Amino acid sequence: MTLMTANQTAINMSVHPSSTDSIAVWQNTINQAIAAIEWPTHPSHLYRPIQYTLEHGGKRLRPLLCLLGADVMGGSVTEAMPAALATELFHNFTLLHDDIMDGAPLRRGRPTVVAAHGANSAILSGDALMIAAYARLQAYDGIKLAQLFGVFNRTADEVCTGQQYDMDIADRDWVDTAEYMRMIRLKTAVLLGAALQMGAITAGASATAQQCLYEFGVCAGLAFQIQDDVLDVYGDPNSFGKKAGGDIDAGKNSYLRVRAMEVADEASREALLQWYSSPPGELRVREVKRLFDHLGVHQLAIGQMNALLQEAKSSLIATPDASVDSLERLWTFAQTLVKRDN
Ligand code: IPE
Ligand code: IPE
Ligand code: MG
Ligand code: MG
Ligand code: MG
Repeated sequence: MTLMTANQTAINMSVHPSSTDSIAVWQNTINQAIAAIEWPTHPSHLYRPIQYTLEHGGKRLRPLLCLLGADVMGGSVTEAMPAALATELFHNFTLLHDDIMDGAPLRRGRPTVVAAHGANSAILSGDALMIAAYARLQAYDGIKLAQLFGVFNRTADEVCTGQQYDMDIADRDWVDTAEYMRMIRLKTAVLLGAALQMGAITAGASATAQQCLYEFGVCAGLAFQIQDDVLDVYGDPNSFGKKAGGDIDAGKNSYLRVRAMEVADEASREALLQWYSSPPGELRVREVKRLFDHLGVHQLAIGQMNALLQEAKSSLIATPDASVDSLERLWTFAQTLVKRDN
């Protein structure tokens, strides 16, 4: 499929042949930069959990988006890297605290920091990670520093707000889809948008270009969180790395649960309410999953993700002064976010 950008350049929206290669190279560069961060050795109970968290995978999605954002605007990987690392360290900080809040036992195929070292460790090591994230921004100065700080601070504040909304709706039987989308926009999507915008800032992009990339990232980020909700129920725990059915087990709201309540007939709705108020465990997970299957909510989620990707594409092709090759690479990458299995 070919589309026209704002300045009427043709963009080939099929899979870009060199995309996956350069993404893999950048992923590798990011991993090396993360491994090269020197953490103090003492106190070991503060810094070991940070190393434990960072050394074992993670898709490095946010730093990749940051590098892609810089690349689209003609910037360099070297200049964007500190901002990219800031987004990844910040993300890992949120995970340490999120796993306490969600009572999660597994992440990236290993015990969470809270499960392995307790809540105090997860809180304090998380705090230190957040500070380390901010420290990466000291690599910039002048207008770029001011803009990066502005985006980063606004985003950090929004993520906290989103996480609070997530907690607020956790035990509610009824959540409006629009309310759910607002919550995931804040807890997840804005950081993806911010990562792209920060990359664009390091490349000296205009405010309009920054905004287009930000909106692209937010739409893709909404789809990304819906896929996370889907994988929580339908994913293979070996590749997903988190506890199977963890959201159902913890009684959390998710895109699937919200839509299930919305589209259910009377009997299915009663059954859903009953299973969510029954004791957590395998039986509840199995029965809720059966109801999700019966109501076809997985298909509804796929439809919603596709619609969000189309919205994302509109913002992407409106980005002024962008390199066409890089736009194609970004588009190809965005499509993989909803097809992922981890
Ligand atoms: C997990 O994010 C938290 C969500 C916002 C869904 P990722 O799925 O990007 O986690 P890692 O870093 O790859 O483990
Ligand atoms: C996490 O959402 C969002 C943030 C960490 C800010 P989830 O709670 O769905 O993420 P996972 O599934 O634990 O990775
Ligand atoms: Mg969680
Ligand atoms: Mg959570
Ligand atoms: Mg999740």
